[in-house]
Amino acid sequence: MMQTIVSLCKRRGFVFQSSEIYGGLKSAYDYGPLGVELKRNLMNAWWRDMVHRRENIVGLDASIIMHSKVWEASGHLAGFSDPLVDCKVCKERFRADKAPRREPGSPAPIVLPDKGVAKAMLEILPARFGVELERKGKTLHGATVGARGYVCPVCGSPFLSDERQFNLMFKTSIGPVSPVDTLAQAIERGELHNMEGRDLRRAIEDRLNDGAVYLRPETAQSMFVQFLNVLNAMSMKLPFGIAQMGRSFRNEITVEHFIFRSCEFEQMEMEFFCEPGSDEEWTTYWRDERMLWWKKFSNHPERFRYRPHEKSELAHYARACFDIEYEYPWGWGELEGIANRTDYDLRKHSAASGQKLEYFDPVHKKKITPYVIEPAAGATRGMLVYLLDAYEEEKLESGDTRVVMRFHPELAPIKVAVLPLVKKNGMPEKARTVVNAFFERGINARYDEQHAIGRRYRRHDEIGTPFCLTIDGETLENDTITIRDRDTMKQRRISIGEAVAEVEALLQSS
Ligand code: GAP
Repeated sequence: MMQTIVSLCKRRGFVFQSSEIYGGLKSAYDYGPLGVELKRNLMNAWWRDMVHRRENIVGLDASIIMHSKVWEASGHLAGFSDPLVDCKVCKERFRADKAPRREPGSPAPIVLPDKGVAKAMLEILPARFGVELERKGKTLHGATVGARGYVCPVCGSPFLSDERQFNLMFKTSIGPVSPVDTLAQAIERGELHNMEGRDLRRAIEDRLNDGAVYLRPETAQSMFVQFLNVLNAMSMKLPFGIAQMGRSFRNEITVEHFIFRSCEFEQMEMEFFCEPGSDEEWTTYWRDERMLWWKKFSNHPERFRYRPHEKSELAHYARACFDIEYEYPWGWGELEGIANRTDYDLRKHSAASGQKLEYFDPVHKKKITPYVIEPAAGATRGMLVYLLDAYEEEKLESGDTRVVMRFHPELAPIKVAVLPLVKKNGMPEKARTVVNAFFERGINARYDEQHAIGRRYRRHDEIGTPFCLTIDGETLENDTITIRDRDTMKQRRISIGEAVAEVEALLQSS
């Protein structure tokens, strides 16, 4: 299924591999002509429903590069890391927390690419790790799972390096001084002389961190940092929210499932500030609101579910968290998290900056630090969800199969295609007049005269265009055109003068 979606995305211009002509960049994607429309439609719908339709939520568009003290205070510099391990047999680098779990002491067969590699490894591994191994085909038997209780996800070996914490933030530097120059000068001055091991590593890191800034790994922090400015500028009253959507960056060790997990992605997050004590009620409110929102655009609402976090899974700042999960082709996985972050973030930034991030409660005449409920969704991950949700191979009565993307009309990249039956007899000119009328109403319409009409219908089914309007011989006689519905494939005639109003009404009623 994933392969089908990936190739449809490339063929039809939804998503391309980044820098493909140079061999591609792992885990980076470009959103093509239809992908950019789908992604924007999704994000605009979120903005409309979260900001424009709510009196007590306002927007923010903060910079991606922020003061590094933000990440110190938020805990991202110290804690936003994954435990990383290297396999000493196949050299795979992987996340310890995602590795296959096995009972300590149970057999750990090591599966190598072929018999030749297995024979070579049989010469090396017993001496290196002090175990007796026996080869059967390309598998070595005799090793057992260590006390850590996991093995290499690729070859199954239990011979692993220590776990290292790997920070997921992308680091860069700002200004004319390069951290490498700072390091070189320190070496020249002999400051690192006589140092070794951990001390040397720490000293190098300190020099390289001089002037370091980070690409934000989430949009959330700027909304805490700008809490006071927004509060004062907009005279907000509790409960109120600040919403933001935009790019985030994580140097993910495991990039997987196409745009599900990538290093550069887009988020749609809202920080909802409320009175302590009302937080549980608001967590339930936002959990339910957000679930209804995702289902509203879906053909398969049964593929969404909630998953409450176990106590052991909760982030250190969170009192409760619910994931909204989707049933992806590889199983259930996260789409959005709704977390009760308490007053953790405002307190942390208050302490670190010296600015009191508080709210004056006019009823009780005292200052309080509000609690925060955070619905945090992935926009690019949401786009993948709706690509998967929309895809259908439909068996037709004729025996043929058609591929149809049943996007909700609000999300569909192109809303209406206008097709002259033939490229003559004045039909193209009539079609262009209709397209221009749609443009004037701000509706994304496409003129399409390439190939036979049947092929054009199939093409628009495959990219999810909800309606096709066809200009034919009868149009020239009586100014009527056919309107074809993507889902039912039914056609009916309408007056050409009413085409825009008719399509607009259909789009609005869906
Ligand atoms: N501020 C909280 C926060 O960022 P998160 O669960 O790490 O929480 C929120 O991220 C959402 O962002 C996730 O539910 C997911 O949809 C999306 N997301 C996170 N990492 C991602 C990645 N590497 N690629 C694509 N989407 C990602």
